[in-house]
Amino acid sequence: MSPHLDLTAPYTPLVRRIESEGSVDGQILRIDHFLNHRIEPGFIFELAHELARRLSSFQPNIILTAEASGIAPALIVAQTLNVPMVYAKKYSTQVEAPALSRQIHSPTKGDNTRLVISRHYIKPGQRVVIVDDFLANGRTAAALIDMAREAGAEVLGAGFVVEKRFKHGREYLESLHVAVSSLAQVEHLENGRAILTQPRKD
Ligand code: G4P
Repeated sequence: MSPHLDLTAPYTPLVRRIESEGSVDGQILRIDHFLNHRIEPGFIFELAHELARRLSSFQPNIILTAEASGIAPALIVAQTLNVPMVYAKKYSTQVEAPALSRQIHSPTKGDNTRLVISRHYIKPGQRVVIVDDFLANGRTAAALIDMAREAGAEVLGAGFVVEKRFKHGREYLESLHVAVSSLAQVEHLENGRAILTQPRKD
């Protein structure tokens, strides 16, 4: 990896948009109007191209994500790096057998979700990079990492559009020997506002 590549440098256009347009609902940052409900193709392309630039040094040959909101950024990263994208299914257990699966608890939704991936689509020796919209506790990414490793693949990095630093998902994933990249880092949520790590002035 290039020694000059900062995987978690705040990406100014995203930081400024979250500051001016994001709203806060308890522990949830809402940017649904451009990232995970209504999607602005131009902006998501810009974000995913920046993630792809940062993740390219891992030389992945597969991008892995989970239904549903991870699919848009993961697809564009995969297209940019010219590799396939695989998403773990949540809403259908009808995947081609044999399957890998993990159950994860979501504190934001308060229930359990099963992630399922057909073993046909992750092969031993493949170089995997995870992409998702949000990194919070890191449970979703950790389940994806675990399944990929069970299939015999190597997981090198994980890239997120937004990282909630106060949930410490980055430390969790790094403890699993996976490097983390993110474009915006929420330090905390306070008085209905998101406080973000500021881009360096240079
Ligand atoms: P974790 O996977 O990192 O441990 O996070 P957690 O369980 O807390 O998050 C579960 C879901 O909630 C994820 O979506 C994640 O993207 C989303 N999420 C977490 N924090 C925020 C936030 O501040 N704002 C928004 N908008 N979403 C957040 P998911 O279950 O994978 O749902 P989806 O992809 O089907 O939408």
